[in-house]
Amino acid sequence: MDKLVLGKDGSWSLFSQRWGEGYHSRIGAYTETQMIYGRACIEWMQKHPNPKSVHVVELGFGLGYGFAVANQFMNSFSPSVLRSYTGYELKKPQMMPPLPQFIGWLTAYRSQLYQDHAVSIRGVSNRLIMGDINCMWDSQNVDILFWDAFSPRRAPECWNSDLFARVFQCMNQNACLVTFSASKKIRHSLESVGFVVDALPLAGPKREGTLAWRSD
Ligand SMILES: C[S@@+](CC[C@H](N)C(=O)[O-])C[C@H]1O[C@@H](n2cnc3c(N)ncnc32)[C@H](O)[C@@H]1O
Repeated sequence: MDKLVLGKDGSWSLFSQRWGEGYHSRIGAYTETQMIYGRACIEWMQKHPNPKSVHVVELGFGLGYGFAVANQFMNSFSPSVLRSYTGYELKKPQMMPPLPQFIGWLTAYRSQLYQDHAVSIRGVSNRLIMGDINCMWDSQNVDILFWDAFSPRRAPECWNSDLFARVFQCMNQNACLVTFSASKKIRHSLESVGFVVDALPLAGPKREGTLAWRSD
């Protein structure tokens, strides 16, 4: 049975018995998601100050923190910008603790997404694809890709070069893949399929993530 974990920032997460790993680090699910994935959205914006569209994709929908951060980010654009989010998830978590109060309004949409696999929120089209990403990947024109699988040690099937090569081909110019992992092996694998890899400096106990650009 998975265990509920309360992060230092007061947001709820889970420890997965099956994977032997937490869904988030101890600093808290929301803080960690903002620090890594929210930060990548800002980095992307700096390269695309007036986008016509933005498509955020996430591996590992889980408890929906990435989905919440992506929707918060996309809500900052005018309605004329075409905005969409696609999440991939192998299996719905055993428990679904509520999102923090200030993003609590997204909790019901998270449930709807698990039930119906598609929902429109304030002009953002959201969809959720259930199954193994290796079989289910179907996204095109990706701008920002949150790579939030369990760690390469626990879930190596989510970190292979074949998969990275496939997703690279589906990314727009100056699109980015962002992940919490700073593993040299993963960075090398990303470079080998064409990404230009940068370190993503982080505050807190985990000092670096990875930001990989499709820059051609
Ligand atoms: C670290 S958690 C993601 C946390 C999530 N981003 C959130 O905000 O709550 C990793 C997630 O990846 C999912 N996962 C594991 N293997 C997968 C696969 N092969 N394809 C798709 N999702 C997978 C797990 O079920 C889990 O929900």
